[in-house]
Amino acid sequence: MANLEQARRWNGETGRRWIAQRERHHAVRRLLTPHLLRAAALGSGDRVLDVGCGCGEVTIEMARSVRPGGEVYGLDLSGPALDVARGLAADAGVPGIRFVRGDAQTPPLSPATFDVVVSSFGVMFFEDPDAAFAHLGSVLRPGGRLAFLCWQDERHNEVLGLAPRAVAAHAAVVGGDDLDLFADPWRIGDLLVRAGFGNVRVRGRREPARLGSDVADVLGYLRETSRFRDLLQRLDDQRTVDRAIATLARELAARQRADGVWVEAAVWLVTATVSGRPV
Ligand SMILES: C[S@@+](CC[C@H](N)C(=O)[O-])C[C@H]1O[C@@H](n2cnc3c(N)ncnc32)[C@H](O)[C@@H]1O
Repeated sequence: MANLEQARRWNGETGRRWIAQRERHHAVRRLLTPHLLRAAALGSGDRVLDVGCGCGEVTIEMARSVRPGGEVYGLDLSGPALDVARGLAADAGVPGIRFVRGDAQTPPLSPATFDVVVSSFGVMFFEDPDAAFAHLGSVLRPGGRLAFLCWQDERHNEVLGLAPRAVAAHAAVVGGDDLDLFADPWRIGDLLVRAGFGNVRVRGRREPARLGSDVADVLGYLRETSRFRDLLQRLDDQRTVDRAIATLARELAARQRADGVWVEAAVWLVTATVSGRPV
């Protein structure tokens, strides 16, 4: 295993929080997942690898699409998330699913065994993305395809950006022009080409995302996220903290609908092939 720090996080506190918020995260991504599934274009008999499958909701959905004869492997570092995934898969009663614990950077899988590698927000945590994507390419058969979703940056994506923006209204601690690798469509393209993929397409997709039931619910959730906690800790005094939180509460209230608080999610939908066949 190469990603020891990520393994520690996802088998520890981060994993516990992810599982505790499973239904919220599922609701946030409900209108985004169909973009991924359409791009993956799964068919009967396909063998699919779901990278960073987490609690397995997308894995289960994909297993329905590859029947009859297909198989979906859910690969994840997190033992607790995989336990939840196995339970959900048993409840769903869909055949053709296997969950495997392991590091996608050094996957415990044979070369050239999959038709499609898919990931719903599970590829952004590699300590060595070049090595990871080269390995993921190697488990695809010639002509196999890759499809994944990752978040756009905070400035264009309210799922990540609403809380930092509220802090930025009161203090100069948010800053920084450097985009994370997976927020930058050009760097994603370069990465995949270096890893041996072709036909790379990075397309923006925007959808409403339900963050929670009401302002108090969403505020409670966001205050537990590491990014927001980190920003609040950098503020000089309690008054500025209170102001940032009041600004965030107002922004959330403006997005309250009868059925919850909805923000605008922005993702990159990334597709590629290992040898020339367009997705
Ligand atoms: C943001 S969650 C997404 C989970 C799921 N795909 C979903 O859409 O709900 C990211 C997942 O990636 C997993 N992960 C992170 N780094 C990984 C790695 N190197 N190999 C395998 N899984 C990894 C984490 O354990 C976590 O379950």
